[in-house]
Amino acid sequence: MNILTFDSDEKLNEAGAGIITGIVQTNRRAVLGLATGGTPVGLYKYIVRDYERGMCSFKNATTFNLDEYVGLPDDHPESYRAYMRQHLFDHIDLPISQAHIPNGNAPDPEAECRRYDDLIDNAGQIDLQLLGLGHNGHIGFNEPAHALIRATHVVELAEETRQANARFFDSIDQVPQQALTMGVGTILKAKMILLVVKGADKADIVQRALRGPITTDCPASLLQTHPHLNVLLDRAAASRL
Ligand code: GLP
Repeated sequence: MNILTFDSDEKLNEAGAGIITGIVQTNRRAVLGLATGGTPVGLYKYIVRDYERGMCSFKNATTFNLDEYVGLPDDHPESYRAYMRQHLFDHIDLPISQAHIPNGNAPDPEAECRRYDDLIDNAGQIDLQLLGLGHNGHIGFNEPAHALIRATHVVELAEETRQANARFFDSIDQVPQQALTMGVGTILKAKMILLVVKGADKADIVQRALRGPITTDCPASLLQTHPHLNVLLDRAAASRL
């Protein structure tokens, strides 16, 4: 495990973006696993900056997002599809047909999960999986549970996750109850994991995830088993390590 701690948000975002653009520079056919939430917004800004400076092209890259809410219209500003367009896809040359996000409005969600897993399998191994961290230790939308699920699946969102994400909606009632998420097995199969965590409110869960016992009660703790785990933290998130 390689942990880097940063004094400034800018430096952290720049470093995270640099790792991703570096992969795309060295492998034009890179397969990237992408994340949403508040944490990677600044990192995506730097990827767009690197792209605009001509440092990388995403023309031959493929991306897979971790998750999507069930039941939000595609054009809803808080759908992860809309988020990815706003923060990354509309600003780079990645063909939209190569940018995959689970369809949270599929009539048969189970079939959609199988379709998504087939797409990932057909693309080969994910070269880098970007991850944020939920306050309860979730990765993607893999919530704490007695047993974690390997492949893409439908998940009931934990109340604390809905509360944490209510800040993006007008009220908690509007936060969907369910999501589709890549499973922990798929996440762990990526060649490299880039976990990014910011803020004092995540210091405890960072400690549990990186130094605590490996347990399904804290899905992120399973990342300790990954041979190429890179963690980018700000000082506040690292304060309990
Ligand atoms: C969300 C997403 C996760 C994200 C996490 C943390 O619900 N499904 O992929 O990493 O929760 O979000 P944030 O970065 O906004 O704290």
